[in-house]
Amino acid sequence: MHIRLAIISLLLTSPISLLAQGAIRQGAPAELYRVHCAVCHGNDLQGGAAGSLLVDKWESIRQTDEALAEYIRVGNTERGMPAFGDAMTAREIRSLVVFINEMRSDAVVLVEQKALEADLELQSDHYLFRVEPVVDGLEIPWALAFDSEGRGLVTERPGRLRWLLDGELSEPINGIPEVLHWGQGGLMDVAFHPDYADNGWIYLVLTEGIGENRGMTSVVRGRINGLDWQDQEWIYRAEEKHFTAARVHFGSRIVFRDGYLWFAIGDRGNPGSSQDTFSPNGNIHRLYDDGRVPDDNPFADGEGGLPTIWSWGHRNPQGLVFHPVSGELWSAEHGPRGGDEVNWIQKGANYGWPVVTHGINYNGTPITEYISKPGMKDPVRQWTPSISVCAIAFYTGEDFGAWKNNLFVGGLRSEELWRLTIRGSEVVEEEIVLKGLGRIRDVTMGQDGNLYLVLNSPDSIVRLLPPAD
Ligand code: HEC
Repeated sequence: MHIRLAIISLLLTSPISLLAQGAIRQGAPAELYRVHCAVCHGNDLQGGAAGSLLVDKWESIRQTDEALAEYIRVGNTERGMPAFGDAMTAREIRSLVVFINEMRSDAVVLVEQKALEADLELQSDHYLFRVEPVVDGLEIPWALAFDSEGRGLVTERPGRLRWLLDGELSEPINGIPEVLHWGQGGLMDVAFHPDYADNGWIYLVLTEGIGENRGMTSVVRGRINGLDWQDQEWIYRAEEKHFTAARVHFGSRIVFRDGYLWFAIGDRGNPGSSQDTFSPNGNIHRLYDDGRVPDDNPFADGEGGLPTIWSWGHRNPQGLVFHPVSGELWSAEHGPRGGDEVNWIQKGANYGWPVVTHGINYNGTPITEYISKPGMKDPVRQWTPSISVCAIAFYTGEDFGAWKNNLFVGGLRSEELWRLTIRGSEVVEEEIVLKGLGRIRDVTMGQDGNLYLVLNSPDSIVRLLPPAD
């Protein structure tokens, strides 16, 4: 396995950037960076969950050594940048500043993008398979969905929605709601109503803004006529007081079953809100497909919590899918530093964040001594260190029979695609199917029976096929 993975990354990384990394990426400051910063800013400072530190001009702070040291010390927690004053001495912070300056001076070679230009054949435990590029030229693609005829829709986080028809991207659809594209927010998931062929409804989950600097996760539906968004109806909008300046943890995915829809909202950077059932944050919500609240939701009468809540105690779920046979709801959610989870979602259950978690704070301090507690659901699978677990999909194709109904889990930071065979609530077999093609933002089954991956850095869509004969 390891040899296979090493070869892939050699193929995809330019020789220049390998050389540059070797020279500087050693010693204590590099280690401080790796331990404290890489999880968000990327192993090579190229950006990931948070922005690149290699860009010409930083957004939030002046580019002086003093400003950088101070920023590392106090952070900006509301905007998702942790404070490291308790985790590092002033001398360590100073050495990190020097390290970042060194890395910036090499930025030209380090940001060089890897790109999959031709098919790649890879060996996994059960199959040799082929990765075929489908499209590129997108900007932070976030989600891909197909209707029953195989027509695709793709979202780009800055706020664009495009058709993907016969391998070609359309111009953006006109007139979709404006999104607040900041931090982790923007246009997220897209989903076709299960009866799309009859009713034409398409659903979006996005970061909606109020004024310049307050945002929240909202759900909207509309119909597309040609390239025009029409008949728009808001399906979910939180009360105005829940729109905040926090730029992190919006969730989200949308899934349907039996006339209902489910979607997630993350803790919005406020972990305590996940245990507050009167906060919309840190929950999976369930509504009728037209936005009405079902009267058999756990808090339908509003007494113990918000009527829309289905399950709570979540940190930031960005994967949501129904099992194709059992009809169970499964989710994946980002942990802090460690503690990424795959969960089997049950009505009215508490998934424990931040009272229980396998993770720790980004600055190395503990969050809790508990990884499990009575009355709180344990994850079916957790990853510590984090892989930045994002989207999930059950394989329902025919080409790879041994994968049937296995859960495919995509990692952003790890750039890994995991395959889990689950029996009941236990993982009985698992492997990393591929690694190093890019940050995996969405994993979805195509109507053609193939598994599609939406990748960031490089921004593209690929699919997994049997080898060419
Ligand atoms: C939990 C994720 C996270 C970790 C860990 C993290 N950062 Fe950040 N960082 C962010 C976010 C989010 C922002 C953007 C904040 C904003 O929008 O103002 C940011 C901004 C920055 C910026 C300003 C960049 C710009 O363009 O404005 C610098 C510099 C920076 N971080 C350095 C570091 C260093 C050094 C470390 C390690 C000691 C670190 N960060 C660890 C999330 C993180």
